[in-house]
Amino acid sequence: MSDPISTISTLLEPVFAELNDGEPADPTVRPSDRADAQINGALPLAKRRGVNPRELAQAVVDSGVLAGFASDVEIAGPGFINVTFSTEFLTSQLASISDDPRLGVPQAVVAKTVVVDYSAPNVAKEMHVGHLRSTVIGDALVRMHVFLGHDVLRENHIGDWGRPFGMLIEHLIDLGEDVAADGLTQGDLDGFYKAANAKFSESEEFQVRARERVVLLQNGDEETARLWHRLVDMSTAYFDAVYSKLGVLLTDDDLVGESFYQPLMGRTVERLSEAGLLEEDDGAKVVFPPGFTNRDGNPLPLIIQARTGGFNYATSDLTCVIDRVERRGADLMLYVIGAPQQQHLQMVFKVSEMAGWLTEETEAVHVPFGNVLGDDRKMLRSRSGASVKLVDLLDEAVDRAGQAVAEKNPNLSAEDRAEVARMIGIGAVKYSDLSTDRVKDYMFDWDRMLAFDGNTAPYLQYAHARICSIFRRADIDRASVRNSPIVPEAPQEHALALRLLAYPSAIDATLQSFSPHKLSTYVYELASDFTSFYEHCPVIKADERTRSSRLALADLTARVLAHGLDLLGIEAPEQM
Ligand code: ARG
Repeated sequence: MSDPISTISTLLEPVFAELNDGEPADPTVRPSDRADAQINGALPLAKRRGVNPRELAQAVVDSGVLAGFASDVEIAGPGFINVTFSTEFLTSQLASISDDPRLGVPQAVVAKTVVVDYSAPNVAKEMHVGHLRSTVIGDALVRMHVFLGHDVLRENHIGDWGRPFGMLIEHLIDLGEDVAADGLTQGDLDGFYKAANAKFSESEEFQVRARERVVLLQNGDEETARLWHRLVDMSTAYFDAVYSKLGVLLTDDDLVGESFYQPLMGRTVERLSEAGLLEEDDGAKVVFPPGFTNRDGNPLPLIIQARTGGFNYATSDLTCVIDRVERRGADLMLYVIGAPQQQHLQMVFKVSEMAGWLTEETEAVHVPFGNVLGDDRKMLRSRSGASVKLVDLLDEAVDRAGQAVAEKNPNLSAEDRAEVARMIGIGAVKYSDLSTDRVKDYMFDWDRMLAFDGNTAPYLQYAHARICSIFRRADIDRASVRNSPIVPEAPQEHALALRLLAYPSAIDATLQSFSPHKLSTYVYELASDFTSFYEHCPVIKADERTRSSRLALADLTARVLAHGLDLLGIEAPEQM
């Protein structure tokens, strides 16, 4: 790995072993605020060996190994070693990432099968901003795991089954399929749902029909199944339109809705009963996983089968665990679902463990996220108070970005402007979501997300476009500078070099906690480091050797920026 911290750890291991009678001892190298890195391992080793830590630190320095990477070494406090990397060391580290299509990021040592459950809107219901969050966060996690070489299975667990489908199908029949299709494919899902619901509460005749329809659906009646399919298709066509606007990787092949698990749920209940976990509670079949209690402190049941015989959301999620582990061979399962479903998922995981479906071999992780708030700090709603339609939101983002681009760069052709506006608008919406710690709520704020300064997509995209324009204006082919050695002498170059070399650890930290905001912070810091480099260090006007070094540094920055943005699902235009 080209990450300097791991490179020097490897170099220091033999030194530490020698000072420990040949036994391995961790040099404990960490990034440092005061220098480039800190070697902390002398302290614990000195303690273990009963020697003076500063003397042991001195022995590490005297070994001469540090000369291979440090230009400045200082023993501080009780025995920390602060090191500043030498320019030569940085030059060679940068050469290795510049040559590497992976930009220094190693493939995962073990490729895992990773199932990612994300997006998961509900048929004939509006996709709300919560689904936007799940979609955008899930997409970024998918891209990163794919990049590391894992086998990633995307699963869109849409809500496409249940009692409401009786009334929805009857309403579809009443409206006529084609009229319904017009509304639904254009995204009027709420209108459809509300109208069906209103009829259900007003008309007894409709209620009877709806109930009979559910029974027909459950019993596999052919005509009912056909109508159900149409309803699902109309909704998924709308979801697809949103996905393609957003530029996420989900396709129809990734649909594994609740309906998929219906025929398998009887067996799930049997298996729970065979495992001796099923109990009767008020006529329902339930499991009591230990550690979950209700407000009164009584054990909380996970309801598996209602008194009426119907299965529950929990039953389909349990069946889904079985499917992911036993059929798909998951090593890691990510559930990108809002924080309110925390308890539901923890109970599902617990019961799956108790039943032996979830073992140490598979890790199940809930990746929760907070709410999107409007400027009133309440859940984001449109002016009329209805839930916001996602397509409208995305279109508005692109519109607003278009106006900003027209102002900034009036020379762009209409066609280029539209394309750039699309990348900025969509990028801004995604980035404002990804760049805040996902467990927190965030405020949806057009002006902030579309600003060209600050931690925003347009700022990052602009930094990238600016580098491209340095080359364009000087008429230099970017690939042609890639063999020039990068010699980061100025402090701003030094800082930028270090940042570039930290790309692998930024991705690593992001995936350790499934937190895309860590990669966002990294790309933002990278762009800021570039900005201060560019302000202080002339590129085109520098002497020949410095110029080729700085051009290579700029090109590498643009590549890492674009790559990091791509892992977040954000495009980087070459001009804007
Ligand atoms: N359809 C659900 C909702 O809109 C989310 C489903 C998430 N996935 C799951 N396996 N439960 O809230």
